[in-house]
Amino acid sequence: MGITNMNSIDQLTVTYQHKFGQMPAHIARAPGRVNLLGEHVDYNDGFVLPAAIDRATYLAFSPTDAHHSTLWAVDINQGASFTLADLSRKRQTDSTPLPEWAHYPAGVMWALQEEELFVPNINAVYSSNIPQGSGLSSSASIEMAFMVAWQTLGNWVLPPMQRALLGQKAENRYVGVNCGIMDQFASACGVANKLLLLDCRSLNWNTIPLPENISIVIADTTIRRKLTSGEYNQRRSACEEAVRLLSRDLPTIKSLRDVNLDDFNLLAGTLPVGIEKRARHVVEEIERSKQAQALLEAGDIQSFGKLMNECHASLRDLYEVSCPELNIMASTAQSIESCYGARLTGAGFGGCTVNIVDSGSVRDFVQFLSRGYESVTGISPEIYISHASNGAELLV
Ligand code: GLA
Repeated sequence: MGITNMNSIDQLTVTYQHKFGQMPAHIARAPGRVNLLGEHVDYNDGFVLPAAIDRATYLAFSPTDAHHSTLWAVDINQGASFTLADLSRKRQTDSTPLPEWAHYPAGVMWALQEEELFVPNINAVYSSNIPQGSGLSSSASIEMAFMVAWQTLGNWVLPPMQRALLGQKAENRYVGVNCGIMDQFASACGVANKLLLLDCRSLNWNTIPLPENISIVIADTTIRRKLTSGEYNQRRSACEEAVRLLSRDLPTIKSLRDVNLDDFNLLAGTLPVGIEKRARHVVEEIERSKQAQALLEAGDIQSFGKLMNECHASLRDLYEVSCPELNIMASTAQSIESCYGARLTGAGFGGCTVNIVDSGSVRDFVQFLSRGYESVTGISPEIYISHASNGAELLV
């Protein structure tokens, strides 16, 4: 599957040559992300703790004199072609509908055009080793790879956070997923060997070193979700409704970030049960994520891991974005001694768990978890040790 290393970048170049009859002028890379704490709080002005990972989208590209842009997605063996003028109609050059996968790069082109930045036509071939729908932000990595490409060809420079915000705009307004800023931020701003702590209200962020002797393990249930299915947008609307209802008693609140747990407990009974559950997850998860930095800096991995376990339970029972396979993967990991914390990562409904594991025992952990999950589900999972990587960049 996909492109993994220099050898495979060579393969991408070969495919590019085959499609366009010449070498690509450039190669860009943009990583996926894993989130350790602060789930479903980015669109509630909370704090998130992601890291860019060593899986990424790779993009070979050149400017073109043609009057349209031509893309080839290696992993699905499909192409698309569109002009700036076709963007708002979501049509290809031959008037057929733009395929859904092409909405991400086209959305980036649209968002840049809205900013009145120069977005020249492009010939591009890309491939990713981030499985789609796995909760590791394959979409954001595609967006950030194309941001780097158009920045290179358009001859302008935007700070990484600005590129992240425009990627989010593309996803919100062009693709139609009302996501927060976390995924594009992590893909754009990632730092090797570091966790990123982002305040999603002020957009201030800093890095936190990974504690020593700790490995991040990603465990893929192989169950796939579809984020555009509406469940995600429904969660976001429930949070907005909670703010509307709570502001009858707390008129100064702008988002659930402004509601402390004591006030929430007092007012919880005034909310419809469904809304109360969603809002409780967010209020409690923001409380948890506020503790993250101090715990990590003090090296208190036990307590940090406990917060991760609590987060999983909350996503399962209150936010209701887990699934049986994610629950089995998380609880199996939590029962293994070398594991400090395990929980689903990303939007949920399938995909991956993130696990914080004692490095000395990590190989055994991977084996136990793999066997345990397979024995209950009959599904062979993909489990690997992940390393925090740099954000989106031009390689060549
Ligand atoms: C998806 C969204 C993010 C964030 C997570 C849940 O990955 O793109 O903005 O909301 O879900 O934390």
